[in-house]
Amino acid sequence: MANQLLKGKKGIIFGALDERSIAWKTALRAVEEGAQIVLTNAPIALRMGKINELAALCNNAPVIPADATNVADLENLLQKSMEHFGGKMDFILHSIGMSPNVRKAIPYTDTNYDNFLKTLDISALSLHKVLQSSMKLDALNEWSSVVALTYIAAQRTFPGYNDMAEAKALMESIARSFGYHYGFAKKVRVNTISQSPTITTAGSGVSGFDAFFTYADKMSPLGNATAEQCADYCLTLFSDYTKMVTMQNLFHDGGFSNTGVSQSIIEEMEKAAKANG
Ligand SMILES: NC(=O)c1ccc[n+]([C@@H]2O[C@H](COP(=O)([O-])OP(=O)(O)OC[C@H]3O[C@@H](n4cnc5c(N)ncnc54)[C@H](O)[C@@H]3O)[C@@H](O)[C@H]2O)c1
Repeated sequence: MANQLLKGKKGIIFGALDERSIAWKTALRAVEEGAQIVLTNAPIALRMGKINELAALCNNAPVIPADATNVADLENLLQKSMEHFGGKMDFILHSIGMSPNVRKAIPYTDTNYDNFLKTLDISALSLHKVLQSSMKLDALNEWSSVVALTYIAAQRTFPGYNDMAEAKALMESIARSFGYHYGFAKKVRVNTISQSPTITTAGSGVSGFDAFFTYADKMSPLGNATAEQCADYCLTLFSDYTKMVTMQNLFHDGGFSNTGVSQSIIEEMEKAAKANG
């Protein structure tokens, strides 16, 4: 399904850890659609992950390490990418999330505040840092597109999502606020995609993930959106067909966000009630 949708476009993809990562699928599809890319991840993830395999599949895309909480790393990444491409870029995918509280299974009501601040820094402020560094270095062409990935726990409570809920709410707000400033200054657009639960390293780290993956699938008229489908949606936002879309949180969830309850969930509840006599 390649239509050269991104022919001539150049961009940076953050967050491809392994072949399940949404960023991994997006990198492959972006190249298939004619884009040239630079891949990046935190230095530790580069050591543990398989990004070099992905780079080889992406026309030997350069891999440039950057901890997304470190502005010097981000500036180096942007500068090196512009040197590689011989000019400014057209898109950035921010596909980054990590909560030390989630990782250590620390309950929300007994949170560790140092961890909480790290969650916000890695998962939300990093978007601000990417945008501010890009603006400062004038790294993006007019009508460029920056996309960050989020989850509906920013709007509604999903208890296992822990402090990532606050991080996603903050990140969505940064996309709106920076989208305003970058739009007026340089016509750069900034959006978030709110994706269905997806089986990846970050996704499966959330407690009760399997249950709410199945629940969301049964609730959504179209079922859960896959990582591949999310990649396709990212490409549409990088393309020139969505030039006037900015400062939006776009649900890519098979209809989950607008469904109160589905017939399938009602039937499950009825079955459970009968089984309990
Ligand atoms: N999997 C899901 O269910 C789901 C649902 C909605 C949104 N999302 C979001 O999608 C995005 C991608 O996650 P994924 O599901 O593909 O999982 P993933 O674990 O494959 O990707 C998360 C990435 O974040 C990177 N990262 C962590 N700390 C970093 C740092 N300091 N600097 C740079 N990179 C760092 C990791 O190395 C990893 O590559 C995240 O923002 C996640 O919250 C995931």
